[in-house]
Amino acid sequence: MSYLDSHRLVIVSNRLPIQIKKQNGKTTIMRGSGGLITALEPVLRQQHGHWIGWPGTYESIDIEDKLANVSEQTGFTMQPVHLTEEEFQNFYYGFSNEIIWPLFHDLQTRCNFIPVYWKAYLSVNEKFAQTIIEHTTENDFIWIHDYHLMNTATQLRKAGLSNRLAFFLHIPFPSVDIFTKLPWREKILKDLLQFELIGFQTRKDKRNFLSSVKALVPEAKVIAKGSIAKIIYKTHEIKVGNFPISIDFKAFEEAAKKSIIVDEPWYLNNTQIGAKTILGLDRLDYTKGIPEKMKGFRNALYRYPELRKKISLVQLVIPSRSGVSEYKELKAEIEQLVSEINGEFAEPEWIPIHYHYRSLDRNNLYAFYRSSEIALITPLRDGMNLVSKEYCACNINKDGVLILSEFAGAASKLKYDALIVNPYDIEGIADTIYQAFIMEQGEVERRMKNLRKKIRKHNIYRWLNSFIDASLSNH
Ligand code: G6P
Repeated sequence: MSYLDSHRLVIVSNRLPIQIKKQNGKTTIMRGSGGLITALEPVLRQQHGHWIGWPGTYESIDIEDKLANVSEQTGFTMQPVHLTEEEFQNFYYGFSNEIIWPLFHDLQTRCNFIPVYWKAYLSVNEKFAQTIIEHTTENDFIWIHDYHLMNTATQLRKAGLSNRLAFFLHIPFPSVDIFTKLPWREKILKDLLQFELIGFQTRKDKRNFLSSVKALVPEAKVIAKGSIAKIIYKTHEIKVGNFPISIDFKAFEEAAKKSIIVDEPWYLNNTQIGAKTILGLDRLDYTKGIPEKMKGFRNALYRYPELRKKISLVQLVIPSRSGVSEYKELKAEIEQLVSEINGEFAEPEWIPIHYHYRSLDRNNLYAFYRSSEIALITPLRDGMNLVSKEYCACNINKDGVLILSEFAGAASKLKYDALIVNPYDIEGIADTIYQAFIMEQGEVERRMKNLRKKIRKHNIYRWLNSFIDASLSNH
């Protein structure tokens, strides 16, 4: 019997896995997007757990009944944490997405270190802590996720909660030199040291965190032996490990096999007169390297003219964080590049870049994954990047090549069979596109087979079990 058979799993994250839309006075609830939701949703469904988070709107609408209905379909229950517009602006857009997000992705020049943001971060974390206290029991396994909620353990301890508390960071943890720029650096580290287990995506993230603790909290003792490190801080013992997150491989594979998906690629064939497809799928974000990818593609069309009319980039961009001005500027930059490249190379029967800016229907997504000959994923830095894993899981004919940035967490495990690129190296991206284009079928199949085998084995359930085991173990 596993621990979670007798303990309820409670996930706490900034966002519930839903998106609320209000149109013509009607409220509808749709599936949310982003790596965290993709990964955690199957886990909670399997465990019939409970999810606490922000419901995706600061408008005061009564959604409790609607959430109860949705819970019947999802297999887990949800508790919303309501935020006012001001809290939302300063905590979510401000501290989370204008400070922690760029800093932790090594882009410190994009940070706006505004003190009001910090105050809002603390008060919203307190609000989350209050909801956790009201909606959990001592028998629950409370697992807090991501950079929005690093201060909750402090608030929960202050309020007297005694449950074991675990935390997982979905995004990278920066090197000590970059982390030190944060005006609230010691405070954040000490907040994290209130958890019993802290999980990171990669060994490098874990190492960076331990170095920061050593440099900035000298009274903490770091024992970094073995796969799980230990920190002793005051009388408290904290375990620190790396747990690369993954996907429900089988669910993606099964979905891609459905007959509706087999029929779907007509769209691609019709629009591309048999040209190969390079798929790009990213949330609109400056960390994803979308302009760099397009410049690499343009360079490939210049330097390898034989690719013209033989290959198209289908770039799907999912709208995101529209309240941060840099995201709006990025959208304009991408659209400018699409129009420049298409203007320069398009022929009556061939368009170099097909660009979509909208949320994607699931069947459409599986069809793109299944039928694209190449996936081009070029983040400048990424915690893991689950799109790379989803692409492989859906590539059931094993006829796809994965091109992946060396700065995605996923590269540490997939680097042997993916083609690895430095997203800042435009010519390198172009050469790799060409390499993928001319790759012999035998090699394509061998590489994809290995990738699929690895992801099938290291799936999301294995991730869950290794995290829970680490939390319960005594080493
Ligand atoms: C990343 C973060 C998640 C976040 C997601 C979508 O994957 O790690 O915590 O939910 O991006 O971003 P958003 O700001 O829309 O929630």
